[in-house]
Amino acid sequence: MAGLYAHPDYYEIAFDFRDVAAEVDFFEACIDRFGERSNRPDSVLEIACGPSPYLLEFDARGYEFTGLDNSSEMISHSIEKAREHDIEATFLRRDMADFVLPSDVDFAFCALGSLYLDSNEALLSHLDSMADAMTPGSLYCIDGSIDFAGGTSSQSEWETTRGDTTVRFGIEQEPIHTTEQLVRQTLTTRVETPEGTRHFREEYVRKTFAPQEFRMLLERTEFDHVGWFDSFDLSTPVEDCEPGTLHRPVTVLRRR
Ligand SMILES: C[S@@+](CC[C@H](N)C(=O)[O-])C[C@H]1O[C@@H](n2cnc3c(N)ncnc32)[C@H](O)[C@@H]1O
Repeated sequence: MAGLYAHPDYYEIAFDFRDVAAEVDFFEACIDRFGERSNRPDSVLEIACGPSPYLLEFDARGYEFTGLDNSSEMISHSIEKAREHDIEATFLRRDMADFVLPSDVDFAFCALGSLYLDSNEALLSHLDSMADAMTPGSLYCIDGSIDFAGGTSSQSEWETTRGDTTVRFGIEQEPIHTTEQLVRQTLTTRVETPEGTRHFREEYVRKTFAPQEFRMLLERTEFDHVGWFDSFDLSTPVEDCEPGTLHRPVTVLRRR
């Protein structure tokens, strides 16, 4: 049975907890403080865009939006969302590990721990594709995906109701290979509607990237590490945070 990533409507209910405008404020604050371009960026790429929750906010601020995802359901849903709001945007069904964009962008981000990569080589290939897709001096912000906690198991679950639909979503991560730093992520979803109850389950094997390992790998790419900031707040650098207290650490990279 296909998982939640093949059901964008239910995904949007489960992940409707963010303050998208505040997160885009943070991205623009990063651009102001760390971007090198004299002109304000006017194009943005979302890696693993899913149902493109940031599309409307970026469009309202004058950016041209490109979304990339490997789920055809997510891409179709995003195309439909853009059409409904009369937005001209580009959506590409691609694997983030290796892709080419039709034209360069001058800001990029990946939200909600969505770097689905299974090796260091895949990360390097992803960053090569990103470097080819981005203008010099532009920023790439990655929300989550760096393993600050260090190979531990984790589990969380929550329930959201919108109208007559209730989505209960659970995410569990467990280490499955010590030296390759592989973890299995299991997503379970229960959807209750007046028509009945549906269950979805999906599993992904991913590599974790420790912070210093990530920085060393970056030396083999066209990106510089600008900083790590927790909770979409430039006044909260991760190096000042107590271990175990991080909420949503964001990695900020700059294309050379
Ligand atoms: C947690 S969702 C994030 C969606 C969206 N960025 C958001 O903030 O709500 C992760 C997304 O990653 C996509 N994905 C998983 N593996 C991928 C890959 N190898 N290449 C591109 N997209 C991928 C899934 O289809 C899913 O839409």
